[in-house]
Amino acid sequence: MSSGIESVLTETRVFGPFERVAATAHISGMDAYRALYDEADRDPEGFWARQARENLIWDKPFTTVLDESNKPFYRWFPDGELNVSANCLDRHLGTPVADKTAIIFEADDGEVTRITYRELHARVCQLANAIKSLGYQTGDRAIIYLPMSIEAVVAMQACARLGITHSVVFGGFSSKSLHERCVDVGATLVITADEQRRGGRAIPLKRAVDEALSQPGGEAVRHVIVYRRTGGAVDWNEGRDLWLHDVLEGQSNECAPVPVNAEHPLFILYTSGSTGKPKGVQHSSAGYLLMCLLTMKWTFDIKNDDIFWCTADVGWVTGHSYIVYGPLAAGATQIMFEGVPTYPTPARFWEMIQRHQCTIFYTAPTAIRSLIKAAESNEEHHPRKFDLTSLRIIGSVGEPINPEAWMWYFTNVGRERCPVLDTWWQTETGVHMITPLPGATPLKPGSCTLPLPGIDAAVVDESGREVEPGRGGFLVVKRPWPAMIRTIWGDPERFKKSYFPPEHNGYYLAGDGAQRDTDGYFWIMGRIDDVLNVSGHRLGTMEVESAMVAHPLVAEAAVVGRPDATTGEAVVAFVVLKRPLPQGDEANEIARELRDWVGREIGPIAKPREIRFGENLPKTRSGKIMRRLLRLVAQDQPITQDVSTLENPAILTQLSQSY
Ligand code: WTA
Repeated sequence: MSSGIESVLTETRVFGPFERVAATAHISGMDAYRALYDEADRDPEGFWARQARENLIWDKPFTTVLDESNKPFYRWFPDGELNVSANCLDRHLGTPVADKTAIIFEADDGEVTRITYRELHARVCQLANAIKSLGYQTGDRAIIYLPMSIEAVVAMQACARLGITHSVVFGGFSSKSLHERCVDVGATLVITADEQRRGGRAIPLKRAVDEALSQPGGEAVRHVIVYRRTGGAVDWNEGRDLWLHDVLEGQSNECAPVPVNAEHPLFILYTSGSTGKPKGVQHSSAGYLLMCLLTMKWTFDIKNDDIFWCTADVGWVTGHSYIVYGPLAAGATQIMFEGVPTYPTPARFWEMIQRHQCTIFYTAPTAIRSLIKAAESNEEHHPRKFDLTSLRIIGSVGEPINPEAWMWYFTNVGRERCPVLDTWWQTETGVHMITPLPGATPLKPGSCTLPLPGIDAAVVDESGREVEPGRGGFLVVKRPWPAMIRTIWGDPERFKKSYFPPEHNGYYLAGDGAQRDTDGYFWIMGRIDDVLNVSGHRLGTMEVESAMVAHPLVAEAAVVGRPDATTGEAVVAFVVLKRPLPQGDEANEIARELRDWVGREIGPIAKPREIRFGENLPKTRSGKIMRRLLRLVAQDQPITQDVSTLENPAILTQLSQSY
């Protein structure tokens, strides 16, 4: 749970409505929101059918809206056919959008590249033709391990054009994580780059691909297409590796989009769960795209002249829905940024908003919190110093935003003129679920406010009964929605068990704790399972624990989250070594070694902030690790609970020392 929770519970401020935004909004005023919500509530299938007909271009119209015959494996528009890439690109070709800028790409070093919809369409067609000529077809799976780049958008869209299911792996994941995903998804094609550039540094990507594919199962990948980003040296596997610029040579600008079934898996995106390995969240084509487009209109109120900027990486769901699919389907102009918010200075975001006249800005609380710190320590980096008057709407995603950060964002970035959209959603939900609408919803700092039309969200107790306002419980969604997760790739049983446990009446269980207030507003309290949220990135405690115990020195490890003012949560690892308790320099040395190890096993985002060594871990007499106690120890809180059941109470002193 975030450190902001206590202040959340006493929050009473209300902001809005925002007349300037409401005047032209797609959904203007609470009455309009309620009317749409009620329409969806009365006749969900009729509502979604209307939206799907009005917003998507179908090659074969659907006649069935929702197939519930095999719950919870819901199928939406199951006899319809379309192509996602045609719905993002071709639909604009005969319109004035064709020659509008689709992407304003700003590189790490500040170089700006613009591409129009017509040019993007041509690039996607060329790559699709190249992939086709290598023998790939509908149903194959491709891993995309690319930096933030127009090429990443092109690669994902080219896969979608051919009905090849993509699985994007964030460039910060290690070769080991990449290998696991390649094998699990059964990839035969990998698209990567020589290196990525972030914060002035070049970080190798191709090398990680080489390492991943040298492991068992890696030989299934027939081709690696390599985008030359930096020109850094790479090893070359003749016959398997191909330069992107070589495969594109001579390819036609036209490639007919392949119509696929509405339920065809557009992508699989791995995310952490409370147990076991990361799960491959499978998304559909039609239902997913429909809601990407609808939320661009509803939540972001996208207009023809907007300059939209979502700062997420394409390796996360936010980048999928709000860079690659939603904005393009909506025909929007968007900014895409290669680098990091603090390079060359922590004013980079504010400079870019000013430079590109950004109107809608969407980022993560962790970025906001780190920029607050930077702005407060150096006036030159304060958003006040920049002309941010182009902004109309500002948003937040990925973790709870504490009211203090919300107020700072609202005051200093939005200048009290722009609604702050605190959007609650998940990799599994595909798109926004609970969020304010900029032209309608009065805002309360720290609350994601109300569910979107068609989303039947609720807070329930252990037995699936709705709880009273003001009482905490499990956040659930009672009815299926078109963009929902379809299954966990290769593990339908785990899908059922994780998200539709029988005691919850067949409701979708989000894994978050929440409560509603008397206005029906939702307040997210953080994860209720063993999933951590570090800088908006999901991490399973089990995942980090199993990486740690794979190290030859480690006998046992327990990982917990500790609230952190900047990153939301920080990873704290309690470790028992196979050698005597280390002290001083030796302990520091081993801690550094273990951190690097976890970085290599999972990726730098999983590196524990603190490591604490003990001769053993606090366990009950029946042998269970007392995690609740460890969470208190991690926060350096006084232990008031009875520890007499501990096998060895003395170790609490050992564990209070962090490295
Ligand atoms: C958390 C990111 C509070 C939540 C789109 C969820 C949030 C997990 C919010 C999903 C928010 C996301 N307020 N918590 N506005 N948005 N979360 O899959 O715990 O990376 O379950 O998707 O992030 O993270 P994921």
